[in-house]
Amino acid sequence: MDAIRWSPEELKLLDQTKLPHQQVWETYAEATSIADAIRAMKVRGAPAIGAAGAFAVAIEARRLAGQPDMRERLERAITVLHDARPTAVNLAWALNLMRQLIDETSDEALPVILYNKALQIAEEDVKTNHAIGDYGAQLFNRPTRILTHCNTGALATVGYGTALGIIRSLHHQGKLQHVYVDETRPYLQGARLTAYELADEGIPFDIITDSMAGHFMQQGVVDAVIVGADRVARNGDTANKIGTYTLAVLAHHHEVPFYVAAPMSTIDLDTEKGEDIPIEQRNMEEVTHIFGQAIAPEGATALHPAFDVTPGGLITGIVTERGVVSAPYESTLRSLKNGEANE
Ligand code: MRU
Repeated sequence: MDAIRWSPEELKLLDQTKLPHQQVWETYAEATSIADAIRAMKVRGAPAIGAAGAFAVAIEARRLAGQPDMRERLERAITVLHDARPTAVNLAWALNLMRQLIDETSDEALPVILYNKALQIAEEDVKTNHAIGDYGAQLFNRPTRILTHCNTGALATVGYGTALGIIRSLHHQGKLQHVYVDETRPYLQGARLTAYELADEGIPFDIITDSMAGHFMQQGVVDAVIVGADRVARNGDTANKIGTYTLAVLAHHHEVPFYVAAPMSTIDLDTEKGEDIPIEQRNMEEVTHIFGQAIAPEGATALHPAFDVTPGGLITGIVTERGVVSAPYESTLRSLKNGEANE
């Protein structure tokens, strides 16, 4: 399963707003239209929007090749892409890598050099996710019941997935008993996307509404919670899909291990703590309506923070492609970034 396909001239995105009932691929040949697709969540998931942003810059460089104001226009395109979604640091991370290359490269070489970099980001993401899957699967030694939130799978990355990558690896190793899939209001990434990926692979699951998680933990049928991340601050505070914090508090209360799976590109040592992470506020219609259908009285207002922050203190371990770390995150994350630690 994949949701992003590329060539030097075009990016193809599987429109995730239409899944699971329609599989519609759209073709993009300009950075600003890719920024629109990121904003509209046609492509979503931290690693996926990072890769899409990188390809957008490469495609834009080819489109503008030979124009005298190419560099200014490329810089403007990067700003538009950067502002499309503020919480997931992978987008800013990928755009920064592209920006650094632009500074070092001649006009003539830019399209090829930028495309090769985007390709590298995309290909490395898949390898990274397999490594996260392997490290995460080592945390369990018997058939396990996992609760997950949002979609962190092949659709949210370039392939395989992070938290869902661990679930895939557990399944391949015969160590997965069941997955509880949080529906994930309001965009329904769990019910629409994670369920779609798990069904496709024959992995046993049930969808639960977000409000059922506490009930199932109380019943003792959840062995661990595994979620993804959009940004991990220096102290381990982790921004992820709205509802994640609630799960972490519930898991703590019920003494259920709570793991975050994230590539190193999601770990942002420049952000000191959770309060410093910008939280995207989305349109209230995404809460008051489902698939364009109003579910609230006309004129009712709603709030829609798209992410929340789970304090590092509630996180049992962070699973990365370099290994699993636990608190104190300030030192363990820094060692990981320096390539030192492997638990
Ligand atoms: O708003 P979304 O769907 O982009 O949010 C996605 C998440 O919160 C994921 O958990 C996170 O990006 C990690 S995806 C591997």
